[in-house]
Amino acid sequence: SASASFQPAEHPLHHHDSHSTAPTTHAKLIEWVRAQAALLEPDHIHWCSGTQEENEAMVQDLVQKGVMIPLNEKLRPRSFLTRTDPADVARSEGSTYICSQNKEDAGPTNNWIDPQEMRGQLEKSFRGCMRGRTMYVIPFSMGPIGSPLARIGVQVTDSPFVVVNMRIMTRMGEKVLDVLGDEGEFVPCVHSVGRPLAAGEKDSLWPCNIAERKVVHFPETREIWSFGSGYGGNSLLGKKCLALRIASVMARDEGSLAEHMLILGLTSPAGKKYYVAAAFPSACGKTNLAMLQPTLPGWKVEVVGDDINWMAINRKEGGLYAINPEAGFFGVAPGTSSKTNPNAMRTIEHDTVFTNVALTDQGDVWWEGMTKHHPEGKITNWKGQVWDSTKSDKNMLPLAHPNSRFTVSLEQCPAKDPAWDDPNGVPISAIIFGGRRETTVPLVFETKDWNHGVLVGATVASEKTAAAEGSDLGQLRFDPFAMLPFAGYNMGDYFGHWLSMPERVADPSKLPRIFHVNWFRKDEQGSFMWPGFGDNSRVLKWIVDRLENPEDKSLYKSTPIGYVPKETALDLTGIEDQVKGGVIQKLLEVNNSAYLSEVTKAREYFVQFGRRLPNKLTKELNDLEERLRKN
Ligand code: GTP
Ligand code: MN
Ligand code: MN
Repeated sequence: SASASFQPAEHPLHHHDSHSTAPTTHAKLIEWVRAQAALLEPDHIHWCSGTQEENEAMVQDLVQKGVMIPLNEKLRPRSFLTRTDPADVARSEGSTYICSQNKEDAGPTNNWIDPQEMRGQLEKSFRGCMRGRTMYVIPFSMGPIGSPLARIGVQVTDSPFVVVNMRIMTRMGEKVLDVLGDEGEFVPCVHSVGRPLAAGEKDSLWPCNIAERKVVHFPETREIWSFGSGYGGNSLLGKKCLALRIASVMARDEGSLAEHMLILGLTSPAGKKYYVAAAFPSACGKTNLAMLQPTLPGWKVEVVGDDINWMAINRKEGGLYAINPEAGFFGVAPGTSSKTNPNAMRTIEHDTVFTNVALTDQGDVWWEGMTKHHPEGKITNWKGQVWDSTKSDKNMLPLAHPNSRFTVSLEQCPAKDPAWDDPNGVPISAIIFGGRRETTVPLVFETKDWNHGVLVGATVASEKTAAAEGSDLGQLRFDPFAMLPFAGYNMGDYFGHWLSMPERVADPSKLPRIFHVNWFRKDEQGSFMWPGFGDNSRVLKWIVDRLENPEDKSLYKSTPIGYVPKETALDLTGIEDQVKGGVIQKLLEVNNSAYLSEVTKAREYFVQFGRRLPNKLTKELNDLEERLRKN
């Protein structure tokens, strides 16, 4: 039973036959778990049932050890704070690898090491790495259990904290084994914090092994191996590793898409409902847009997902249907407030795990941007240092780590879409790309057609701000499709896969229309010109207008970069003051010479893809340049 395995065992269990405890008759899975136990040498094996009792027992254990700090039960019921090792606070892109047989298949944007060599390295790191610990076996489903669009993974890990978080972020436990049956396919995922314990050795609060940290993917055999980190993106292997890097490879092979995109349901005052997907690079506003509270009366936005989107062609209906493979939010805390994202604030009122935020005197959480001023009195920063507002020691700031996060079940979100869990997915009407662009890129435009849309996705970029080092201010950093750290294969081939979608559907007009937005345009004083957040509903309304009235010439002007709203086509009721004095004109302006220099930068960026760059994409870029020169 679940609780039995939490009793300190008298004998190490690594000679134990996992057959007797495995709650499955899936021979391949049992054999795989046995092989992992032989390699990793844990003291115990625990198959996760996914039940509430199991979760409570694990949480209680983590609280006792001091890993999870219970928050004030009145202010933040059943919620916890965890502080990571200060060196283990984010995804480690430098030690993330795509180990395909051929280097070129990983492409120029991924780290690559020969798979044979990597297997040797892994063997060295992983051999015996779970000594003194329990190996948890987590069967999980990315997507609604049993959905034709879902995929199953099985993760072994020696971190009970990872188990607790996997239970929030995925559907996990015995019900997944039921669907897996005796022969179902699963993606094997191996995770270890990389700190074996000697007999009697006391564990640290956040064991990790930064020196040997690596997150490794074998796309051909569809395996994931993660060593040395407990941070979410590196250790919850269902998320970035499976649902993006491995799933993008599977999607290529199966003719579907696995994307770094939010999915939202948008209902107009007339009661018409649309589903929209959007890809913005990390920390560029997906979670905020997915949970948006429209300032436009009568409009409603509901969340299907805030980070990952799997889309497949629906043979019966035509067009793309999307599921959110996740079951929770792993959202950035700083900047989240009842002003910017009230739905997120309500979602995290209870039953939430916080990582690396600050702790108030009252036992509640705090982060920069949650309130205008930090709370009075003493507050403990993310490193556990007590900060006194009257002494204001700058060395202890920021109080919350900039990448501090909340982990919370999607079920708790007051704005969850009724179909967020629909096993058939939701039909996508529009795809939006975006980045942080202080200059050049208008508030919104629609692309001319699918291929032009793929060019716009392939050239998603953010400008280097003064905050980043280097003298190359204003230089573009490309993050194609917001997938730069997540595409599991050659990015040139990935562009080609996107370009192939119209050939895969019976009726290409059923494919979503493609748009681009930019909330981040700045004026000469360096202030954002567009109010953003809830007012982004005004842009969503224009997108719906375009979907409903494609022939209505009053809605748009045709420009070399695509269709841009006429000033009069955006509903600005209530924010007229904020966009007066030429601001809205500026937000909708297309400057040909500025865009021509974008073309040059894109051309330079594309060189690295060599012969893997699809000709169709080059043609789109050439056509864009020609339109810009002609006008
Ligand atoms: P990941 O979860 O890392 O993939 O990132 P994300 O895309 O979900 O980013 P998130 O929604 O957490 O965006 C975080 C940052 O974008 C915060 O600094 C927000 O304040 C800012 N942001 C989001 N929407 C807007 C907007 O409309 N206008 C402005 N000015 N800032 C915004
Ligand atoms: Mn993300
Ligand atoms: Mn997010």
